[in-house]
Amino acid sequence: MTTSLLRSARRCALALLAPLVLSMPAAAAKPVSNGLALTPPMGWSSWNNFGDSIDEKLIVETIDAMVANGMRDAGYQYVNLDDGWQRYKGNRRDRPLEFDPVRFPRGIKYLADYAHAKGMKFGIYSGPGQTTCAGYTGSEGHEAEDAKLFASWGVDHLKYDSCCSHKEAPVPVLKTIFGTMSRALMAQRRGIVLHACHCGWGQPWEWAADMGINHWRIGQDISDDFDYPGNREKYYFDVLDTLDRGIGLEKHSGPGHWNDYDMLIVGLNGRSKELVGAGASNVEYRTHFSMWAMVGSPLLAGADLRSLDADTLATFTNKEIIALNQDPLGKPAEKVRDDGVLQVYAKELADGSYAVALLNRGSATADMTLSLRRDLALTWKKYRVRDLWRHQDIGTYDIPFTTEVISHEARVLRLYPVAE
Ligand code: GAL
Repeated sequence: MTTSLLRSARRCALALLAPLVLSMPAAAAKPVSNGLALTPPMGWSSWNNFGDSIDEKLIVETIDAMVANGMRDAGYQYVNLDDGWQRYKGNRRDRPLEFDPVRFPRGIKYLADYAHAKGMKFGIYSGPGQTTCAGYTGSEGHEAEDAKLFASWGVDHLKYDSCCSHKEAPVPVLKTIFGTMSRALMAQRRGIVLHACHCGWGQPWEWAADMGINHWRIGQDISDDFDYPGNREKYYFDVLDTLDRGIGLEKHSGPGHWNDYDMLIVGLNGRSKELVGAGASNVEYRTHFSMWAMVGSPLLAGADLRSLDADTLATFTNKEIIALNQDPLGKPAEKVRDDGVLQVYAKELADGSYAVALLNRGSATADMTLSLRRDLALTWKKYRVRDLWRHQDIGTYDIPFTTEVISHEARVLRLYPVAE
C-alpha cells in the first residue's frame, strides 16, 4: 500500500466512526434549483496534485499561472481549495471550523478577493461529517453557520464531501444532509455552486438535481492511470473505468446538474503528492480530456499549473474541445457503437452539428469507420468533417468516413451538414 492510500484508508475508517445524522429536518420535496452551472464548471482544484499540502502562496501562484498561461481565458473560472485549508483536525463537536492561520496568513477572503480581482471564481471544501475525509473538522450540524461563513468570504463553489463520513448512509439520509447544505447556501443569495461528492454511492444522479445540487461524482476517486488492470488498491478508478461507469447515466446530466467524472489527471505524470497511479502518455491524457469534455463532466484541472509543459498546456487549452463541453445545449455524449476496444461516442450540439469521438482502447493502431446513418441515425447526404485536435477541416464526404486511430487515442471530429 502506498503512503497516500494508507492515509486515505485511515481517514475513512476514522470518519466512519461518526454517527449518522438522522435527526436533521427533512429535505424539501419540491424540486429546487439555484440556476447556476448551466454549462459544466471549469477550473482547478488543489487535491489531485497537492492533497492537503496547500497554502496561500500556492493558490496565489496558481491564479497567476492560469491568467498568464491562457487557461483563464480558455474558460477555467474556478480556483477551488479542496480538503486541508482548515485549522483543526478532529471532531467538529470539539473544534471550530476555521482556516489555518499559518498556511493562510491573510485568510480565505483574501484569496477569494484575489481570484475575483483576476476575473475568476473561488471554491472551498467541506463535508457533512464530524470530520472531512482528510480528518479536518466537518460541517455536521453547522450548515447554516458555515454557509454564512463561506458567503462572507466570497466563496462561489462548495465541494461538500460525504464519501468517508456517510459511506453506508441510506438515500434518505444523503438527501437530508445534502439538502440541508443546499438550502443553507441558497439562503445566502450569493450564487454558490454545490458539488455533492459521494463517490457515486446512493445513485445521486437520481435525486441530487432536484435539490439544487449542480454536480455529483459518479464514482470513487480517479487514479493517475489510463487503463490499470482492475481497480488500484480495490478503490481507485482509472480513466476507462470512470468513462464506463457513466454509461447509462447520461440522461441525468444537463444544464445546471452534471454527472461529475472526477477531477482531471492531465499533467500529473505519475508525480502527484496525493493520487496513486503511474501517469499516462500525452495521447492518453488528451483522450481523457476529450472524453470528459464529450460527456459533459466538470473540467477541473488537478495538476500543478505553475509548471506545465507545452503538450499539457495545449491539451488544457484546446478551445475546440472545450467548446464541446461548454456547448449551451448541454447534451452529454452517448456511446453509439461498441466493437469491443473500438468505440464511437457522439454528442449533438446547439448549432445542429455533431461531435464524434472515435476511441481506440486497444493496444494496436486500427482503422475506424463512422457511418452517419448507422451510428448517428442522420440522413445528411453530405457532411464536412473537422478534426478538433489537428484544428483542420479534413474534407466533405457523402460516404462513410474512415480514419486511422492509434492505440489509446480518441480522434475527435465535428461534423456539419453540407447543403446539396
Ligand atoms: C475524497 C474525495 C477527493 C478529495 C478527498 C479530500 O473523499 O473523493 O476528491 O476531496 O476526499 O479529503
